[in-house]
Amino acid sequence: MHILAIDQGTSATKAIVVDTGGTVLAIAEASLRPRYLEGGGVEQDPRALLDSVLTAGRRAAAEAGVPLAAVALANQGETVLAWDRRTGEPLTPAVVWQDRRAERVCAARASHAERLAALTGLVLDPYFSAPKMRWIRDELTTEGVVTTTDTWLVHRLCGAFVTDAATAGRSLLLGLEDTGWNGELLDVFGLGAEELPQIVASDAVVGTTTAFGPELPVTGLIVDQQAALLAEACLEAGTAKCTYGTGAFLLAQLGTSPARSASGLATSIAWRLRGETRYCVDGQVYTAASAVRWIAELGLISGPDQLDAVAAPSGDGVLCVPALAGLAAPWWDAAATASFTGMTLGTGRGHLVRALLEGVAAQVAVLTALVGADLGAPLSRLRADGGLTRSRVLMQAQADLAQLPVDVYPSPHATPLGAAACALMALDPALDAAAAVGGWRPSATYEPVWPEDRAAAYLERWQAAARAALSPQEAS
Ligand code: G3P
Repeated sequence: MHILAIDQGTSATKAIVVDTGGTVLAIAEASLRPRYLEGGGVEQDPRALLDSVLTAGRRAAAEAGVPLAAVALANQGETVLAWDRRTGEPLTPAVVWQDRRAERVCAARASHAERLAALTGLVLDPYFSAPKMRWIRDELTTEGVVTTTDTWLVHRLCGAFVTDAATAGRSLLLGLEDTGWNGELLDVFGLGAEELPQIVASDAVVGTTTAFGPELPVTGLIVDQQAALLAEACLEAGTAKCTYGTGAFLLAQLGTSPARSASGLATSIAWRLRGETRYCVDGQVYTAASAVRWIAELGLISGPDQLDAVAAPSGDGVLCVPALAGLAAPWWDAAATASFTGMTLGTGRGHLVRALLEGVAAQVAVLTALVGADLGAPLSRLRADGGLTRSRVLMQAQADLAQLPVDVYPSPHATPLGAAACALMALDPALDAAAAVGGWRPSATYEPVWPEDRAAAYLERWQAAARAALSPQEAS
């Protein structure tokens, strides 16, 4: 059996064709360029998203040249748009998860923050979907429906009006225990009159499509980060992965208990499969590869492949807080800004590049410690995937700063493989999650080389730099 699995991400859409044993027969990618606007706006053209899904999907299907059993789709999680349900036409740009413009929507609801956290497991921040949905209603249009991109893309593929439980769980509109749209939450955001998609499991078949050739069931709908968690077989409570993509996202499996974080992290739905809801705790670095893209645009490197060649052996005192789209857990400051500190006349681009990579790793290290606190025991290892795992400098810095062995996932396709696993489970009722994803051996393991006190001293300095990057309001 072969699955066409599509990962619709922020910087690119990737499609793979994979068989039941996890062998990838074909890969196609279509890159995307979000628009960065003044005032923290980050937008995508919805038509470009759809085109990229169709182009990458058709290319992978043609290249594989085998009969397909289903198409699966992983999505960005919190990117939203308004669209017309009758025509399927977009009415607004897609407002990307990195977009900070809904900050005032959150500020106006600050008194509800505690109640929202109790009901949803999330934090009141423009990152999540509902503030951006409200912002679209206030600023762009009151027409049509306002949903996450998965709902629109699936509608275009097969006419269904659905979202999966994990994606719905990133909205601030879902009760974490009952996993349904919640009237009280909808009222907080003034979204009570909205027509909302039906929430489905990740192993539900929601329709069929002929967009990629012969008619195929559409199934395996899931958030990209949660898909990677599944692919990396983080199935036991306490196992964790970090995906180093456009952002870096650390997720730890919580099992069937939606325990709220006591450390300022988010608790949400990992997936709903086989009728069981699994939960995860997550922490976010909003800009990882997008910070690398930024330094490339400034001319410090020609592209991500040059990172390790340019990075100096040490930052020589330079620290970077890569808060180019604000800071997430545990600071939750949408208006925080990025910084390089500790520079002298002797500072060269190699120090800046090293500091940037260490800055991403330091932020993830802060998150690993918080995840450990929430789990009641420190993490013992960290699984890693995503394009930036190709940087040995970053991976070693991660092991050193988190004081954890880092196991690199051997395939660059964790996210589509996770979505494909959901689709396989939909088609084969005998398959459980462990069998659907199979076992894996790391392509590389990075052991900490720095002694503990050196890591602690670095993190202390880095945390002071992070505090200094907070907006005046948050810092006071
Ligand atoms: O929460 C946003 C995240 O899931 C987007 O992932 O792969 O586009 O960086 P990616």
